[in-house]
Amino acid sequence: MKKPVNFTIFASGNGSNAENIIRYFADPSRGGATPLVVSNRREAGVLDRASRLGVKARHLPSSSFRNPEELLPLLRSHDTDVIVLAGFLLMIPDWLIKEYEGRIVNIHPSLLPKFGGKGMYGAHVHEAVKAAGETETGITIHHVTTLCDEGAPIFQARVDLSPSDTPADIERKVHALEAKHYPRILEETFISSRS
Ligand code: GRF
Repeated sequence: MKKPVNFTIFASGNGSNAENIIRYFADPSRGGATPLVVSNRREAGVLDRASRLGVKARHLPSSSFRNPEELLPLLRSHDTDVIVLAGFLLMIPDWLIKEYEGRIVNIHPSLLPKFGGKGMYGAHVHEAVKAAGETETGITIHHVTTLCDEGAPIFQARVDLSPSDTPADIERKVHALEAKHYPRILEETFISSRS
């Protein structure tokens, strides 16, 4: 049996995506594992969720995410193959993108390139979708580059919106898509495709 693909998750917030990924890969037959969750916010809900699920959860100050001498040994000590961003609000530095080339992914809660870029995260995205009167929205899972929300897309899924949907309704619809697809797309991209 092949060694599992290790997904280290970077997250800054609530952590529903992180929890879904941890639960999905808790089944060893899927060939993946989540050895570590790291957050730049000490109070982030994601750290509690990870600990509750038996995954090592670490807080690192934002400056440590910019320092290769601090971050790389931690990633290597958990045998990290892929870095998964799940609501992570810091930009990824160039040296980390080079070190993990093609192996850093993000999920964005809109149909990029629409509603992406600086300042477009969380509720801001759903409010902008509402204000623009969109009839659909969705999710984009994409490779990460140094440019915000601009890496090559791996997968998109869409959902219809009705004129009465509030930003909170839109967020709920988007979270449902995230739960349905993010873990599965990680599996397809990094595990099923292994020769
Ligand atoms: C998600 O909507 C994700 O698309 C975006 O940030 C949000 C994180 O939510 N990148 P959660 O912390 O996983 O609940």
